Amino acid sequence: MDNFAGGTAVPETELDAADVEVPAPLLPVAELHLHIEGTLQPELIFALAERNGIELPYSSLDELRERYEFTDLQSFLDLYYANMAVLQTEEDFAAMTHAYLERAAAAGVRHAEIMMDPQAHLARGIPLETCVNGVASVLATSQEDFGISTLLIAAFLRDLPEDSALEVLDGLLAMDAPIAAIGLDSAEVGNPPSKFERLYAKAREAGLRLTAHAGEEGPASYIIEALDILSVERIDHGIRCMEDPDLVERLVDARIPLTVCPLSNVRLRAVDTLADHPLPAMLAAGLNVSVNSDDPAYFGGYVDDNFAQLIAEFQLSDFDRARLAANSIHSSFASEERKAELLNELNGGEATDS
Ligand code: HPA
Ligand code: ZN
Repeated sequence: MDNFAGGTAVPETELDAADVEVPAPLLPVAELHLHIEGTLQPELIFALAERNGIELPYSSLDELRERYEFTDLQSFLDLYYANMAVLQTEEDFAAMTHAYLERAAAAGVRHAEIMMDPQAHLARGIPLETCVNGVASVLATSQEDFGISTLLIAAFLRDLPEDSALEVLDGLLAMDAPIAAIGLDSAEVGNPPSKFERLYAKAREAGLRLTAHAGEEGPASYIIEALDILSVERIDHGIRCMEDPDLVERLVDARIPLTVCPLSNVRLRAVDTLADHPLPAMLAAGLNVSVNSDDPAYFGGYVDDNFAQLIAEFQLSDFDRARLAANSIHSSFASEERKAELLNELNGGEATDS
């Protein structure tokens, strides 16, 4: 590399293009797989703990950060649920949501479908109204404040009984909570989609959109169950579909969206390294995949970080990057009008914020 020290101008012609790192421009994207509780950054955990007089089991930020070495999904979930203890008031939920949207806007996110885990808060004695209203109060003005249209997804914990989920869904419907969809998350193996057939039937009847985590740690057969028994429109993760060629063909034919989270898969050891991630093979197979951050405060990055690392690892072409962005928009639960705005923006048109 030429030496730029000393302020000596180097003629442009002498620059070796291979030495110059030009960051890829951010594309407008929809983030479809994001747990709001997974956006709690260590600094905010400490600030909220102090505000609420909660004693944390870590004495410093560094001590907390040392815990971010995960061996599998459960090892992450243990820390993720423990850290939620600092969320006590509507203001706490609002602060967390505000911080995510601010960072997501800088990552190029223009539409976000945000999951929250009401049962995890109810179990700690936090009323449904507190968590739902705290998050929803910030989402209500997200487009004006951050240029990001948003909607809320109530995610249910699959390691709890279906009756618990049904009771909470009833509570959400009774309070007329502003939720657009339901999802299914938490410990996957041993908790197949079929366990939640009644929950999904009820949500469908209530006019809610349907998505579920499947094929993250669980087998490809869980993806098939989510489609056949729960009638989901979208699969969260879904990477293990690659073990079943017939399923891949079905997903391609039906254009079923898979909300893939590469850095999450590396950190939770679903794949050994990013180089082993199936995303390029999924694109090559014609699957409808998008790139998402899942729990960005825990997995080392937001959507832009996921894209940057994918580009560096796989030299993703501009065409593939645009395809991933377009997939995210097409696969969202946004109105057709909003999708058209975002696709226009992706194709070089003006951004529309309202
Ligand atoms: N998988 C399952 N459940 C979750 C996750 C995840 O990555 N993040 C938060 N809850
Ligand atoms: Zn997830």
